[in-house]
Amino acid sequence: MKLLLLGSGGREHALAWKIAQSPKIEKLYIAPGNAGTASVGENVNIKADDFAGIRQFVLDNQINMVVVGPEDPLVKGVYDFFKNDEALKNIPVIGPSKQGAVLEGSKDFAKGFMQRHNIPTAAYQTFRADQLEEGLKFLETLKAPYVLKADGLCAGKGVLILDTLDEAKKELKEMLGGMFGDASSSVVIEEFLSGIECSVFVLTDGKNYKILPEAKDYKRIGEHDTGLNTGGMGSVSPVPFATPEWMKKVEDRIIRPTVEGLRAENIDYKGFIFFGLINVAGEPMIIEYNVRMGDPETESVMLRIKSDLVELFEGVAAGNLDEKTLEFDERSAVCVMLVSGGYPEAYEKGFPITGIDEVENSIVFHAGTAVKDGQIVTSGGRVIAVSSYGSNKEEALQQSFSQAQKIQFNKKYFRSDIGKDL
Ligand code: AMP
Ligand code: GLY
Repeated sequence: MKLLLLGSGGREHALAWKIAQSPKIEKLYIAPGNAGTASVGENVNIKADDFAGIRQFVLDNQINMVVVGPEDPLVKGVYDFFKNDEALKNIPVIGPSKQGAVLEGSKDFAKGFMQRHNIPTAAYQTFRADQLEEGLKFLETLKAPYVLKADGLCAGKGVLILDTLDEAKKELKEMLGGMFGDASSSVVIEEFLSGIECSVFVLTDGKNYKILPEAKDYKRIGEHDTGLNTGGMGSVSPVPFATPEWMKKVEDRIIRPTVEGLRAENIDYKGFIFFGLINVAGEPMIIEYNVRMGDPETESVMLRIKSDLVELFEGVAAGNLDEKTLEFDERSAVCVMLVSGGYPEAYEKGFPITGIDEVENSIVFHAGTAVKDGQIVTSGGRVIAVSSYGSNKEEALQQSFSQAQKIQFNKKYFRSDIGKDL
């Protein structure tokens, strides 16, 4: 089949790498892709949310399936765009409908959904701009630290955790006053949960689901989880505390009620669901939903899927995912992200990257790279993920760290403590 993958990050390179291994794939296109995806498929110069451009390309090239990497096209309704177009409606899109994508697009909707289906999550209330006084009063009833979340999409920047009531009040005023534009015209205030986080992923056809390997990601820029939040500095799979007993609780209390809840609410959902979980004294609770795979979790999770991912996608499209098999690779997989010095604040781009060809026994996934005059250069904050297998996490990490030394670019930085807290 001819498959079109939308997106351009490290997640998409990892998805493309896995998809390209399927014997079912005759041709893989990535729109717009990056310097790495070009090595496993053909990049197409169309933005992931340019629906008219995608439509033309799909028809001109007889594409049989579209897989969506990032949330943006999903929240904008790419699934519905295909469903409602006479010429496109029979081409499956792997990703939820616009209504399903609201699980990620609105924190208030997600919290309401969790509550309606008795899915364990932090207590909360939502306040609109005209309810500032009520919001301030509500904060006074809570204990520190305070968690404030912009309702809408903010590219990962919409969550603030404040240590004092004064700071929380000040930030609430700013958020409701337009700090994140429309995205923070409503703000969710919720109870702080203390525990270790874990990302769990499922693929669903709307009725059946398959649980993919779980992973832990490392969000802070500094070692020992210090400093600013980033898009993710590395990931590890499996996660030691995600034992079969713990995963059973996750399935019974969180995954199954979510898939059944979507069905009960007539929400069309055929794609990935990302459960952002936290382990609170042995009990899983959900912090957030995303309607796509995680980045950089995908850069370790894809290594641990033995089965043909495209066959699973076919099950999603046909509604018979229960008839497909999903086998895990029993080895550990990790990814270490090489980033531009200065990230997640200001950083420079355009530095030549050398040494990728010297990497042995690891997989290099490109995140923020570009090709300039035939040379691969840095073009983003997160530049390259070095992913590795190992018979255990220590071995996999050792492998990634040793290969990370071989790749060079000006002001390269990576966290050398990925996985060491587990
Ligand atoms: P989110 O965008 O919802 O994933 O939130 C970003 C990060 O903020 C999460 O990954 C957690 O580390 C943290 N966070 C969000 N909500 C809570 C909460 N209720 N308690 C503790 N930490 C939280
Ligand atoms: N790694 C977290 C995310 O993709 O949102």
